Amino acid sequence: MHTIIGTWKMSYPALQEANALLAAGAPADEAVVEAIVRVEDNPNYTSVGYGGLPNRDGHVTLDAAFMDGRTLRCGAVICVEDVRNPIRAARLLCGRPENCVLAGRGAEQFARHAGLPMRDMRTEAGMRRWRERVSGLETPLDAYRGHDTVCVLAVDGSGRMAAGTSTSGLFMKEAGRVGDTPLIGSGFYCDMRYGAAAATGMGEDIMRGCLSYEIVSQMRRGASPQDACEEAVRMLAEHMQGLGETGDNISVIALSPDGRCGAATTLATFPFAVGRPASTTLYAAYGDRSPVRAVAPDEVEGEC
Ligand code: GLY
Repeated sequence: MHTIIGTWKMSYPALQEANALLAAGAPADEAVVEAIVRVEDNPNYTSVGYGGLPNRDGHVTLDAAFMDGRTLRCGAVICVEDVRNPIRAARLLCGRPENCVLAGRGAEQFARHAGLPMRDMRTEAGMRRWRERVSGLETPLDAYRGHDTVCVLAVDGSGRMAAGTSTSGLFMKEAGRVGDTPLIGSGFYCDMRYGAAAATGMGEDIMRGCLSYEIVSQMRRGASPQDACEEAVRMLAEHMQGLGETGDNISVIALSPDGRCGAATTLATFPFAVGRPASTTLYAAYGDRSPVRAVAPDEVEGEC
């Protein structure tokens, strides 16, 4: 039986389509990539792909990664501009024995040579927000609340697993800044023997706990995806709080090889979607650790 899980409300319509692909026999890697492409192509999502908000210099720079749960190979592109679908570049790089993580100009060159579509990823709306911000007061960097990284994990009917992530990172980030999204073990991890996990939120905090690897490690030791997510987030957040920090923008999802899902967050509410043969459903996890539950789209924040 297949299962697919994705972060935020923005993944909900994408997962409905990817769920239909899986039901028609598509492999996990295709379902993950197609779901993320749909999010990347939508300019209403200002934290991913086309229409992502610019960095401090007015450039939209994108990060994406893909991991194959059978081979443990991964591919990633970091700080790319003008690549229409960074996840497709990451997918193509996955499987290479070397040169599988490319940054900046080299990654763009790779995408161009591979024949991937290129486009100016800036939108008028995104540039307007950038102009407003640069002409106003300096405000602290803040991860998007209600959007951030699109992360998708899937297991297909044959048991193959894959993970993918894509983001434009923080609005007004410094040129060259990289978050957790393209970093294996922090933003994503997938080992089809034990499960897959991915993270979204403040990349600088997520990296400190190598959260995705931590969750899969706990699943390897027998934890359920839900318990592994809760424990990994609790450990990191409590440590940060002990240091006088908030750790208040960390959310994770996980999937086991037999299709069980997990999610945890330090936000008040973290929406995520799950597709199974019978249906695709929107859920929310809660920072106060009240139980995960199915929600209607208008109950939670964010574009859909
Ligand atoms: N989680 C995305 C980032 O920090 O860039």
